[in-house]
Amino acid sequence: MISIKRKFMAGQYKLTDKLSYVIANDYRLLQIMSRFGISLGFGEKTITDVCRQCGVNADTFLTVINYVKDGAENRPQRVEHVSVASLLDYLKRTHAFFLSFLFPNIRFHLLNAIDCSVQNEIAFLVLKFFDEYVEEVRKHMEYEETTVYAYVQKLMDGEFVSIENSQLLSRHHEAIESKLKELKKLFMQYYPQTEINEKLNAVIISIYQAEEDLSIHCLVEDNIFVPAVRRLEHQAKTRQVRTEEESDAMLVSNEEQLSEREKEIVVCVAKGLSNKEIADTLCLSVNTVTTHRRNIARKLQIHSAAGLTIYAIVNKLVTLSEVNI
Ligand SMILES: [Fe+2]
Ligand SMILES: [Fe+2]
Repeated sequence: MISIKRKFMAGQYKLTDKLSYVIANDYRLLQIMSRFGISLGFGEKTITDVCRQCGVNADTFLTVINYVKDGAENRPQRVEHVSVASLLDYLKRTHAFFLSFLFPNIRFHLLNAIDCSVQNEIAFLVLKFFDEYVEEVRKHMEYEETTVYAYVQKLMDGEFVSIENSQLLSRHHEAIESKLKELKKLFMQYYPQTEINEKLNAVIISIYQAEEDLSIHCLVEDNIFVPAVRRLEHQAKTRQVRTEEESDAMLVSNEEQLSEREKEIVVCVAKGLSNKEIADTLCLSVNTVTTHRRNIARKLQIHSAAGLTIYAIVNKLVTLSEVNI
């Protein structure tokens, strides 16, 4: 993980700070702002006002900019005010920025900068290396979108399916970053340069910026997104347990409830009637009476005639004088 250490201002930004003041202090926050869907032209508005106007969760935006401003240390952040939906939207936009804009743009300038007029195998190997690197990042982002982000979307839709910790955490961040380090090394140490190549230098600088930008993205995923998702999972799990307990309780109370016909049969049992006598009294077949008695036993968990008699008295289905003791 590269160091994102910079000179930064003491104190955290607040929702009441003007966005223009925030951006003026650190240009990188401009990219974060645009990936949250906030465009330029915010005038003298505060963070709260701009976020409200753009439909962005202001607390989430504030958490991310304060994290980056403070040097994006690799440790979990406080996420109780973070909206996972807002953060997910931000991360998806960041992926799109890298894959559809930044990398194609770097490649375009790289092609422009490498010397194709002479035999230069190193240049083409470097280009090949860059393409392989981009492919690796693309696969990683694809994995996140189809597995991790899709899981989180389900979680937000109220569907809770537990996922392994190892699946949620982004395991490939280190691998992606080390490959980019190698690319810079290849350029600077082995690229055959005969004269000052301003174009190539500009490309190398843009690769440095991409490295830092991607590192921030990975750190936000690991230290804000993952803890926020864990919090959401915890809430979903608690909700699920509560729902299961409620439905269990409902099942128990439904099971305890006897139908009118079953109550009639309990009364007959309490009066000492046999199954045949009950069948005759209630105009049922003996088989039907047997089935009813089985259901009564299952619902009440009372299997003996004596037990049913007590149940009938306690529940005022019969009086003591009516029962056969
Ligand atoms: Fe990502
Ligand atoms: Fe990632």
